[in-house]
Amino acid sequence: MSDQDYVNLINGSYVVAAVLFIVGLMLLRTPATARYGNRLAALAMLIAAGVTLLDRNIIEFEFIIGGVIVGSVIGVVLARTVKMTAMPQMVAVFNAFGGGASALLAGSEFIRLANAGEVREDVAATIMLATAIGALTLTGSLVAAGKLMGWVTQNPIIFPLRNVVSALIGVLIVAIGVILVVDPIDNQLAFAALAGLALLLGVLLVTPIGGADMPVVVALFNSYSGLAGAATGFALENNILIIAGALVGASGLILTRIMTRAMNRSLANVMFGGFGASGTEVADVDGEVRPYRSVQPQDAALMLGYAGSVIFVPGYGLAVAQAQHELRTLADMLQARGVDVKYAIHPVAGRMPGHMNVLLAEADVPYDQLYDLDHINRDFDQADVALVVGANDVVNPAARDREGSPIYGMPILNADHAKSVIVLKRSMASGFAGIDNDLFYLDRTSMLFGDAKKSVASLVSEIEDL
Ligand code: TAP
Repeated sequence: MSDQDYVNLINGSYVVAAVLFIVGLMLLRTPATARYGNRLAALAMLIAAGVTLLDRNIIEFEFIIGGVIVGSVIGVVLARTVKMTAMPQMVAVFNAFGGGASALLAGSEFIRLANAGEVREDVAATIMLATAIGALTLTGSLVAAGKLMGWVTQNPIIFPLRNVVSALIGVLIVAIGVILVVDPIDNQLAFAALAGLALLLGVLLVTPIGGADMPVVVALFNSYSGLAGAATGFALENNILIIAGALVGASGLILTRIMTRAMNRSLANVMFGGFGASGTEVADVDGEVRPYRSVQPQDAALMLGYAGSVIFVPGYGLAVAQAQHELRTLADMLQARGVDVKYAIHPVAGRMPGHMNVLLAEADVPYDQLYDLDHINRDFDQADVALVVGANDVVNPAARDREGSPIYGMPILNADHAKSVIVLKRSMASGFAGIDNDLFYLDRTSMLFGDAKKSVASLVSEIEDL
């Protein structure tokens, strides 16, 4: 094979990998094809990494095979043992490794080029970017994972002038970066300082954010890890790394935007607002004690069993109670009685993107029964019953009606438009946003108190007896 053929083969493999990445990402858009998309993207990564290692003659063939085996064993063990609710912290750790790998690669390339005395300015600039973004992604993601695991306090750690200190460190990093671009030779101490400050900045950026906002932070760092990868790709002149990094960077940013929009929060509010501390109290809207109606499973079962159409609204409490299998059974029983059953999925119901989809997929709920906010909201007007299972903020009409409410403007599921509403939760306590919910006090709302799993199970047994 001539050298040119060899180069063409490598570049052809990269094009195949790039196309597989893009098709894989597109397939991730719906739960029905997501697994297939994930496999395609994994295959693309195998092609990209394998071809790069062979191309560069970096390591021996045996080591590549060894790496594939070790990586596959770790991947299989993690895929089988990590609980669905622990996914956000696993993604955070992956982002940390991605950022760290980019920073290390960029660093070693810098040292290699500096020792050879041939650092071009454009290469130096991308190396500085990759190092700074990769290093802050490493520590920021590790702190985020620690908060999600409960190893680091979930409460925002806030100290005076924290944003000023972070901004100063950011300016310092940029200044050192510029010095290194202009004068890269014999300046390795400055390079170490840049990396060290970026590591510190990652910690300082995440510690003031409350644990409940970590999913947004994880999505943002996902984007950063992609940007660091793309910058490393420019430094190494590796096209597939640039493409893969850009795809991760863009998709992480889009996900972050979707999450903040669905919560009606700005990214700046999440990053610098100190919102999302755990242990928030119910803030009674007007300080008055309002009457509400509680219901027993028997009466709730009658309402459901004789309804024409029912919309289930799952929320974080469904995940806490792990009530998805019971809910699926309830849906099957109602459908057997001729009741039309749909599931309304809010984009930020639960605590991580796709939380409800994942839980319901675990219970084999058919995808065509899941409707997102835009497609279900009008149906509430005709629904006989909205069954709210452990959801709170995502059905709070204050988001629509009460200007000044912390969630005002957040798109919500119009459960309050249904002819009657049954809410399954343990108490009148607030949800994530820490505010009271007008829905619970409507004349047509009945509260069924108790753990969601037990409540749904008792509804199932009551409907059996109808
Ligand atoms: P929440 O507003 O957090 O309400 C969940 C409700 O579930 C609570 O009021 C709680 O009431 C109830 N609950 C807890 N454990 C339960 C159990 N074992 N059985 C029955 N009920 C139980 O949930 P949501 O409506 O899904 O809204 C999600 C919130 O999280 C939004 O404010 C969103 O902005 C925020 N958030 C979401 C994400 C993503 S990406 N999904 C990321 C960050 C923040 P009791 O204690 O009375 O039972």
